[in-house]
Amino acid sequence: MTSRLRWVIAPVLVFAIAGWAGSERACAKDHQPESGAPLHTILELETTARLLAILLDSGRNVINENQDVSDDRGKSEQRVIPEVFERQLLDIFHSRSGIDLRDLEAAKIPAGAKKLLKELVVVSKQVVAEARLEGNGSGSGLKFIPAIFGARVATRFTEQTHVRLKQTALAPRNPLNAPDPVERTALEAFADPSYPREKVISEITAKSGSLRLMFPLYTTRKCLDCHGDPQGELDRTGYPREGLSLGQNAGAISVVIPIRP
Ligand code: HEC
Repeated sequence: MTSRLRWVIAPVLVFAIAGWAGSERACAKDHQPESGAPLHTILELETTARLLAILLDSGRNVINENQDVSDDRGKSEQRVIPEVFERQLLDIFHSRSGIDLRDLEAAKIPAGAKKLLKELVVVSKQVVAEARLEGNGSGSGLKFIPAIFGARVATRFTEQTHVRLKQTALAPRNPLNAPDPVERTALEAFADPSYPREKVISEITAKSGSLRLMFPLYTTRKCLDCHGDPQGELDRTGYPREGLSLGQNAGAISVVIPIRP
């Protein structure tokens, strides 16, 4: 309880102090001698981080919803075509964020966010296009599930930009997704059933001179094929099911944006 409260309050405190402490924090970073980030910059970065998380999650959901097509039991696996993927991605993102990426000029969001969102759409579409070329999936290895899509997109986006994206959970299936201490604290808050839905947690970390944001993920019916009941029984990817229920928190997307790129 206490720790949840602390996290709910933390963003407010962080932004309240960012105005005066930002300078010192940004300077703490090895080669960033510039004066600190003003409050509006911090708020813009938070918006950018939140929108990137929504876009990555929207892509995961498109893959999740298309699994009947992309995860067929037989030999001739048919994966969603990039153009259909993009259309669904932009539609879902629009309905969730109110921002139409087809008309980015008009969107009232920071210029930096526009550039990064555009880049994330390009990378997502590339990953979908490449997955289609991987062959007909009759062989071994994991199918093109939301987590694989998300991990590939996150890795490439992180390589191409200064922004780190990662999927994480308290008890990750893939050890590479294990949370660091900041992520763990946020995940513990999200795991409390009374935690407000979709409420992000963000903070400035002095050591890295970054804004960090955690965006909670929730299960839809399709996620439960693998992450639902019966708990402990292997799903079709060979992992034991977690026994999650519909709408329950299933982890988070973690975003790290340097205050000075
Ligand atoms: C076809 C089975 C399947 C479906 C459907 C599925 N997942 Fe997963 N999920 C997995 C597997 C397998 C991994 C681990 C992938 C890896 O090895 O990187 C995973 C990983 C994750 C992770 C990263 C943390 C970890 O455990 O490594 C999150 C978060 C997650 N899934 C949430 C979801 C959500 C939310 C949905 C629905 C939108 C969903 N998954 C749908 C099988 C599935």
